[in-house]
Amino acid sequence: MKFFIDTANLTEIKEAQDLGVLDGVTTNPSLMAKEGITGEQNIIDHYKKICQVVDDNVSAEVISVDFKGMIEEGLKLAALDKKIVVKVPLIKEGIKATKYLTEKGIRVNCTLVFTAGQALLAAKAGAYLVSPFIGRLDDAGHNGADLIKQIVQIYRNYNYKTWVLAASIRHVPHIIQCAEAGSDVITAPFKALMGLLQHPLTDKGLAQFLADHEKVKQKF
Ligand code: G3P
Repeated sequence: MKFFIDTANLTEIKEAQDLGVLDGVTTNPSLMAKEGITGEQNIIDHYKKICQVVDDNVSAEVISVDFKGMIEEGLKLAALDKKIVVKVPLIKEGIKATKYLTEKGIRVNCTLVFTAGQALLAAKAGAYLVSPFIGRLDDAGHNGADLIKQIVQIYRNYNYKTWVLAASIRHVPHIIQCAEAGSDVITAPFKALMGLLQHPLTDKGLAQFLADHEKVKQKF
C-alpha cells in the first residue's frame, strides 16, 4: 500500500519524507488556504517546492469547474513538474477533463468521490487515481471503509488500472480499515501517519530494556 500525506505544510511533508516511507502528497484548495498560500504565482511556487521534497505523486487541484478552465489549469499545473498529478472534482465537466488530460498523457486524480458509481465513471474516463472521502462519509452516518471495499472489488472485476486512493482519513483505525479493504493508496494527515508509530507497550518495553541495560552496566 502506498502512503501519501494530505497537507500543503512543507515542514510536515519534509518530516514524513525523512521517515523514508512516503510515496506522495495530496493537497486541495482548503489545505493550501490553511497554509496561507494564495495568488496564482504563490500557489505555483509552493507546488514547485513540494515537488523538490518528494519523489513523485504531488496532487494539485484545479479551481475551475468548466471543461475549458479545467484543462487550461490542468495543462499549466502538469507543466510545472513531471511529479504533478492533476486533481479534478468528480462532476460532469471533471469527467470530460479527466478523459482529455489522460489522453494527453497527464495523470489525473478524480476527487470528491462518495459513491461506487462515481468511481466507475472515473475509471472509465481513465483516471490514474480516484479519491473516495471516507471520513466525510463516516461524518454523514455512512461507512467510508465499505465504499473502499466496493470500489476495490469493482475495479478488480474489470481490471481497471485506476488506483484507489482513500482520502479524508482522520485517524489510525481509518488507515487500517483501508488496508484491510485493499486500498492501493491512503492519503492521511501528518498526525494520523505518525500515529501508526505509537503504542504505549512499545514505550514501556523500550524504557524497561534501557533500564535493564543500565543495571547490568553498573554491575561491571
Ligand atoms: O484530500 C482531501 C481530503 O483528504 C479531505 O479531507 O478531512 O477535509 O475531509 P477532510
